[in-house]
Amino acid sequence: MSEKPPFLWGVATSAYQIEGGRTDSKGDSIWDRFAHDPGRILGEDTGDVACDHFNRWEEDVALMADLGVTAYRFSIAWTRIHPDGAGPARPEGLEFYGRLIDALIANGIEPLPTLYHWDLPQSLEDRGGWRSRVTIDAFAEYAATVVAAYGDRVKSWITHNEPWVAAFVGHLEGVHAPGLTDWTAALSAGHHILVSHGRAARAMRELVPDIRVGIALDCRPSWAASQSEADRDAQRHFDGFRNRWFFDPVFGRGYPQDMVDAFRDRGRFVGDSPPWIHDGDLAEIAAPIDFLGINYYTSIAVSAGADETEDTGVSPGPDPPAGYTEMGWEVTPEALTEFLVRVHAEYGPPSMLVTENGASYSDRPDTSGSIHDDRRIDYLDSHIGAVAAVRRRGAPVHGYFAWSLLDNFEWSLGYSQRFGIVWVDHSTGERIPKDSFDWYRTRIGEGI
Ligand code: FCB
Repeated sequence: MSEKPPFLWGVATSAYQIEGGRTDSKGDSIWDRFAHDPGRILGEDTGDVACDHFNRWEEDVALMADLGVTAYRFSIAWTRIHPDGAGPARPEGLEFYGRLIDALIANGIEPLPTLYHWDLPQSLEDRGGWRSRVTIDAFAEYAATVVAAYGDRVKSWITHNEPWVAAFVGHLEGVHAPGLTDWTAALSAGHHILVSHGRAARAMRELVPDIRVGIALDCRPSWAASQSEADRDAQRHFDGFRNRWFFDPVFGRGYPQDMVDAFRDRGRFVGDSPPWIHDGDLAEIAAPIDFLGINYYTSIAVSAGADETEDTGVSPGPDPPAGYTEMGWEVTPEALTEFLVRVHAEYGPPSMLVTENGASYSDRPDTSGSIHDDRRIDYLDSHIGAVAAVRRRGAPVHGYFAWSLLDNFEWSLGYSQRFGIVWVDHSTGERIPKDSFDWYRTRIGEGI
């Protein structure tokens, strides 16, 4: 009889958002540079120090042990391992994550590293970044380096975090590093990221055959604002752009034809198929995965007139009953249930993990130093409930990771948004668990 996989209760973070990018002699990533480009980040904040996790990681592991999580999703900074993106591994970098991994395991916390959470080595960017196929091989080489170092202890790995965001927010909207605004750049970057996922998965399995490999896809469930044909078409297009464009190829279906046609008709590429897709790429992208990570925050109503970019979809109806987070994101836990059920039915991944879910609310310490973040508790509670509902409907969801352990550097919004269940004083680095931290500990104890 096969044993049911345990449910992983976790928290998630990423390297640039918490570690401190200028804390030692690691190489520069595109985010180290981008954040110093005037006007890019709200308040000119940078991740130079961030939560200083690079120096305070033991305190953070102790917090997680106290919290009672059974897994921790973090990302490895490629530039700590290969400062220039390739070449010999840097021992100090390998030692840093080695110590972290050992401490997690010693505390009964399963490490779940992500290889790429958007911090491409700047020297690879200088050679064309994700627009170039050079980066595909460099990524597979980096994946092999870290699996050779930790594959004896770390069994599950995530290749990429949110390829849609890396491709389109970074190369089309220009809001994230490297800050480009170009369709060819965005579409080719997204494609090369996907190919690198497959190539890395193969390299990792060659080293450790029973390793578990997954990818964390962001999703944006949507519905048509009305039953008019125009709104329904717009919604289908939005879903194709925002979800199917990545889900389909990962699950071996290639790119959705309706979207290839739409991109061609809109002049995003010339010819029958995008020229950056080479023979063999789709097979490589479709490397089997052991689990699918899904990052979910919010959903959206789409009406006709919306372009492919999500911000132009409108949300006309009444305010959602559960309101909005301080990101302006609608709180819609039922959309998480529906989306996971859909992914199970349409794509059938062997296992799913909610690799990110959480809410930005800026509740601060009161006079006694306590942080009463009741709205975050409500958000987490309803979304964990949504996961439980999916499991009751028979879909294999085996983990939930709250974003985030710490208030951290929220990309172009700097430190203005607070997603943590632990408050961080960004001038001193002091950590104070919020009410949601204690609530989460209790909720974990109740089981799923
Ligand atoms: C996700 C990112 C994560 C964090 C949350 C709020 O898109 O993966 O790093 O910024 O949003």
